[in-house]
Parts: sequence; C-alpha cells; structure tokens
Amino acid sequence: MKLWGGRFREAENRLMEDFNSSFPFDLRLWEEDIQGSMAHVTMLGKQGIIPEEEAKLIYQTLVQMAEDIREGRLTLSGEAQDAEDIHTFMEAELTKRIGDVGKKLHTGRSRNDQVAVDMRLYARKSAGEVIDLLQEMADALERKGAENPVRMPGYTHLQRAQVVTFRYYLDAYRQMFLRDIQRLENTRALMNVSPLGCGALAGTTHELDRSMTAEALGFSKPVDNFLDGVSDRDYLIELLADFSLIMMHLSRLSEELILWSSQEFKFITIDDAYATGSSIMPQKKNPDACELIRGKTGRVYGSLLGMLSVMKGLPMAYDKDMQEDKEGFFDALDTVKACLSVMKEVILTLKVNDETMKESVRRGFLNATEVADYLVSRGIPFRDAHGIVGRIVIECEDRKIAIEDLSLEELKRFSPVFDEEIYEYLDYDNILHKGIKKEILS
Ligand code: ARG
Repeated sequence: MKLWGGRFREAENRLMEDFNSSFPFDLRLWEEDIQGSMAHVTMLGKQGIIPEEEAKLIYQTLVQMAEDIREGRLTLSGEAQDAEDIHTFMEAELTKRIGDVGKKLHTGRSRNDQVAVDMRLYARKSAGEVIDLLQEMADALERKGAENPVRMPGYTHLQRAQVVTFRYYLDAYRQMFLRDIQRLENTRALMNVSPLGCGALAGTTHELDRSMTAEALGFSKPVDNFLDGVSDRDYLIELLADFSLIMMHLSRLSEELILWSSQEFKFITIDDAYATGSSIMPQKKNPDACELIRGKTGRVYGSLLGMLSVMKGLPMAYDKDMQEDKEGFFDALDTVKACLSVMKEVILTLKVNDETMKESVRRGFLNATEVADYLVSRGIPFRDAHGIVGRIVIECEDRKIAIEDLSLEELKRFSPVFDEEIYEYLDYDNILHKGIKKEILS
C-alpha cells in the first residue's frame, strides 16, 4: 500500500511537472532571456542593489553561456523537474557556474516581467524577419512583372472583364505585401516598450532604473503601468493578425497561380521544383507548393483565434494561461516565414505563356467597354451606348468572331456614329494608352 502510494504520488508529480513545463518550446527564447538578464544585472550593479563586481561576474558568465550555447558546448536540455522553463534553466546554469552569486540575478525581478521582456524582444525580432521576407517577396513580384509586361485578361466574378497586363496584376499583390510591411512596422513601434521592472505585478521596493534597462534593450521607454506591463499580450495578437493578413494575401495569390497553371487557363507553367506528380496518373503535375500555402493559411488563422480566446476574460495580472501564448505564435511565425520563402521562389521560377494570355484577351470581348467609351465620345449617352455594344457582342458571339472583325459597314448598322477611328479603340495595343489606363502601363 505504502509502496504503491509512494509510486502514485511520484507519478502524479511527474505528470504535473511535464504538464506545467514550457521548456520544450520556450527554449527558443534563450538569446532574449540572456539579453534581458544582462541589461537587468548591469542596472542592479549601477544602482548599487548588488555589488558591482558581482554584477560584472554574472554579466561575464551570461556572455560565456551565450557563447557556449551558440557553439554547442551548452545544450538546452533537461528534465522538467530541473527546467520548468528557459528562465529556470538559465538561472540554474548560472548558479552551477558561479555558485551563490548567481542567485542574485533575480533580485527585483519576477519571471512574470522576465517572460514579458523575452517575448517582446523575440516578437520584435520576428517582425523584422518577416518584414525582410515581405520586401524580398515584393521585389520578386516587381522583377517577374518587369520581365513579363504581357497583356492578359483582368477578371471580375472570375469572368473576363477588361485587358490589363501580367505586370500590373503582380503589382496588385506587391501592393498588398508592401501594406503588410507597414502594418508590421506599426505593430513593432507600438509594442516597443519595456516591461522589465514591473516585477510580479506591482514593481519592487528596490530603486530599479527602468529607463536604463529599457534603453539598453532598445525599447522606446518603460511601460506606464506594472499590472498592464506583465499581462499585456496585445502585441502578439496584433502580430498574429498581421500574419493572418499576409497569409490571406498569399492564399489569394496561390489560388490564382493554381487556376492559371490549370489546363483550362494555361497562363503559366509552375516550375517542376514546386510541383509534384501523381502516384497513379502519369500526366499529372500538381501545384503543391501553392496548395500547401493556401492550406497553411488556416492554421495561422487558428493561432490568432487561439490567442484571442486565451486572453478573453483573463483577470489581471499574470495568469498561467498566458504560457499558452508561445506555441501558437511560434508556429504561425515559422509558417509565415516558410510560405513567404517558398512563394518567392514559385514566382521567380514560373514561366509565362504570353500567347495564351494574349489569345484570351482577344477571345473575351475585353474591348467592349472601350467601344461604349467611343460611342460616348460621339455624344451617345453611356446607358444607350452600353445597350448598343451589348447587341454587337451578341452578334459576334453568334458568328464566333471578335468585335474588331466587323467591317465599318456592319458596325454602322448598330449605330450610324461609327467611323474609322473605332478601330483604334478596338486595338488592344492602343487601349492601354488611353485616358487613365495609361497608369496600367506606367
Ligand atoms: N513559463 C512561464 C510563461 O511562459 C513564465 C512565467 C511564469 N511565471 C509564474 N509566475 N509562474 O508564462
């Protein structure tokens, strides 16, 4: 009974320790954790809260630990009972190296403000990485467009509508990604305040210099309220919302590329490197990269909703629920970065089938609106012009010809105002040079 009882208690403790531990996923924060500790201990020494020499010793040991981790001499591993989280692991290692002095690092600090600092530093760095990838994506779209200024149909309701160019089409996506950059920059500016010094929730009786640590860590200032400082996770939600928008843009682009590479469109050919074959159908070439990006959009949205749900109804200040901020954020970050990197390559390596694009423009009556514009220029009210062109299109459809195939005599039967100049309006080379359509070519 006793034996069994002892074993049961131990098993139960292990279960809880493993459940409670964030080390398997927050070890990612090791660099930020050391950075935060270096700023904190320097300040403790300067303020005379701990002796200056001891602060120096701690600082140097932290530098050494970082080097050891980078070079593989210190591995981030340990059982849950020794390493509940990255913060515990670091302090244990420090104390192993320099004994009791190491225990002074945590003076005037709680893991609550420590984890808040680590996450903000990590989130700030992540925003920068995603901004760089977005810029590369925007540059790739610009380059591919410049190489392929070919005419193609523009669509509404996925029905051929008016002529644009492939370059202009890609530029629309470029605009979305440039907006995503701005959004991340805004998020980064708003989040860039330091929670270090908030302690557990109510500061500390020590004379900490919060401005000094904020400055050392590159924050614009310390947070204004301790309770808010340790329990604010808005910036993670904002970043996840930014990531969700990026994924939405990538997903739309993926969908277009999937359609365009289909046998039905044949506008582009996706490079073999970003497609796969079928195990049974020898002729198949599937646009897997794009499909996966479209699919992964769902999990990034999931992380956003997960994080909003974790925070909803949480009383201040820190609650352990907040430990759940990490896995979803890290997963969304990795996903966005991978998708941006892959999509950039898909874009740069795809081939444009310009003949098919041009032919689709010709067969789609994409100059019908311009015929109406022409009639308006001859004094016919737009609504009437619209009706006239509608009748022309029906006739051409019946005869399986394009509007420009009609002779002037035939056109005159629909309206006597037609003259030779109509053929200029019908010519796809000319259309894009008229009126504000010139912007499409600029
Ligand atoms: N692992 C924790 C987290 O990620 C660190 C903060 C723990 N604080 C506490 N009072 N238990 O949120």
